[in-house]
Amino acid sequence: MKVGILGYGTIGSGILSLVQALPQSYGVKAVKVFDLPHKKEVLGDLFAASADDICLADDIDVVFEAMGGDKFAHECIVKALSSGKSVITSNKEVVSKHFEEFFALAQQNGVYFLCEASVGGGIPCIRTLTHQVELDTITNVYGILNGTTNFILTRMGEGQTFEAALKTAQKLGFAEADATADIEGLDVLRKISILSNIAYGTRLSYDQVKHYGIAGVTEAVLKDVASRGKVLKMVAQSTLVGDCLKVSVEPVLLDKTHLLAAAADEYNMVVYDCKSNGTLALYGKGAGRYPTASAMIADLMDILDGNKAFVPKAPIAPTVGNFDAESDFYVVKDGNATITHGLPQDGDYTFYARIMKED
Ligand code: HSE
Repeated sequence: MKVGILGYGTIGSGILSLVQALPQSYGVKAVKVFDLPHKKEVLGDLFAASADDICLADDIDVVFEAMGGDKFAHECIVKALSSGKSVITSNKEVVSKHFEEFFALAQQNGVYFLCEASVGGGIPCIRTLTHQVELDTITNVYGILNGTTNFILTRMGEGQTFEAALKTAQKLGFAEADATADIEGLDVLRKISILSNIAYGTRLSYDQVKHYGIAGVTEAVLKDVASRGKVLKMVAQSTLVGDCLKVSVEPVLLDKTHLLAAAADEYNMVVYDCKSNGTLALYGKGAGRYPTASAMIADLMDILDGNKAFVPKAPIAPTVGNFDAESDFYVVKDGNATITHGLPQDGDYTFYARIMKED
């Protein structure tokens, strides 16, 4: 099997080294890597000058997309799937925006579209969910889905500044090219959209869900939260109640004993409440070169094993709501924190976090 890699940044370079380290008996060979001209020197014979040299090439069976972004990645994935190649991507932006199209194209062309690494880094949360939806009913999906913000909150809790912690997260390859997507919750929104689409058959678009991030978190906020015996985490939640999908992407206050409170640094935790199977929690590194690349190699293994390709549930279009009216919130205004029932509608606060109830 011959594979091509689109993008030779943090993730692409991880994929190449893991593919090259596969035992010869797997019969997998990385033959081309596309990136900008300045990577030619380091890639040598593997360098492909254009993405079409991979997406349209007769000698490529599987395309790894690790470029990120939407427009060009979308174009490449469509070309690759349409010309009979399986595609493996870590790109949550493109998956969340074109979910329906990619899976339909893969089905039409008898190939795989796999995106394990788009949510939860190295955690097999999509593989687990796609299996679980076939045999069970998922009632609630929630978790810590962003390594960068979890890393920042952990380090700030240890006395680092927001800026210093973000800088380290960027250096370690956790953050997005534009880190505001991490900080403001857009990255988490993309990921919870993908999980909701798989779990419930929705096709969420970004404008249906608000996202609120951790930009307003200060040392004083973290100290005050700790003095209340709570932990602050950036959490996504999605639950289908009748014909309403409630989704939230926001900081939450958790009891110290809450399952999610245990995830520190770049670790993520993904939890599925299932009708028959009860609560299923998955934990691991949610960001970084090798956890992400390793999830993409796990997708490659599915192809090599000839596993059944995932076909999404038929689309449903529930009304989309949130937990605002029914929840208590920790709200900071003029430097003072108060607890309110419901989120103040006037937006007159510098920071808020939803108080998550222990089940
Ligand atoms: N920027 C993302 C994060 C990378 O920090 O979780 C992994 O999706």
